[in-house]
Amino acid sequence: MKSEIYQINFRSKYTFLLFFIGLFSCQHDPIVQPPVDTGSSCDPSVIYFEKDVLPIITANCAYSGCHNAASKKDGIILDNYNNVIKTGKIKTGNASGSKLYEVMIDKDPKDVMPPPPATALNSSQLKIIADWINQGAKNEKCTETTNSCSVTNMSYVNNIKPILSSCTSCHKSGNTSGGVLLDTYQGVKSSISGGKLLGSISWASGFKPMPPGGSKMSDCNISKVKSWIDAGGLDN
Ligand code: HEC
Repeated sequence: MKSEIYQINFRSKYTFLLFFIGLFSCQHDPIVQPPVDTGSSCDPSVIYFEKDVLPIITANCAYSGCHNAASKKDGIILDNYNNVIKTGKIKTGNASGSKLYEVMIDKDPKDVMPPPPATALNSSQLKIIADWINQGAKNEKCTETTNSCSVTNMSYVNNIKPILSSCTSCHKSGNTSGGVLLDTYQGVKSSISGGKLLGSISWASGFKPMPPGGSKMSDCNISKVKSWIDAGGLDN
């Protein structure tokens, strides 16, 4: 009889103990943070999708009426990595066998992309696309070190114009999206007023984030544009 009571007592105490252990272990569970992938510093010999490839594709292919998610002409959407790989029919390691690249270098004006009157990609842009595919069409990320970014004495012709060349497909005469022209100095100069140009590239609230579609300009380029504006936005 005595031992039976002891047994019951022991069991309930044991259950209690387990309950408390459970309670405390829950409270002390560490909060699991998703891994933050900032990437390692950029290797100049590597072509990175988001940094190098996507801005070219966004500006030349993934706009309204063509290959953005809303228009998806011929079922082709070129707005992010997965869609570019899939609908651009990328053959890893084989640029010339990849549809995306094939149409960009097509000599027939009826087949080349982007179709005229849009400007064909230039040789350095084509090389970036080809090298990226031939390097394995990966989606690696990297961090640009800020100390390699020099923003003093910015010149419109040498520094700012090349940075804004990724914007001109949507901001040129004949296609002045939002009434903004970025292929001439005068156009760029007037986009400065009201903080529009800087607000849009730095994705500041109250402005339309540019370029549309998810690949923000690098911090270094944003600082260059800001420095040029701060110095008076000269035609230098
Ligand atoms: C794919 C086409 C496309 C590209 C590329 C593009 N833009 Fe735009 N941009 C637009 C459209 C469309 C609007 C008008 C948006 C609206 O009013 O909803 C616009 C609006 C703007 C505005 C006015 C923003 C405002 O808030 O008033 C500025 C400035 C601008 N773009 C700058 C740029 C710059 C700088 C780049 C390059 C980094 C760029 N855009 C690239 C399509 C584009």
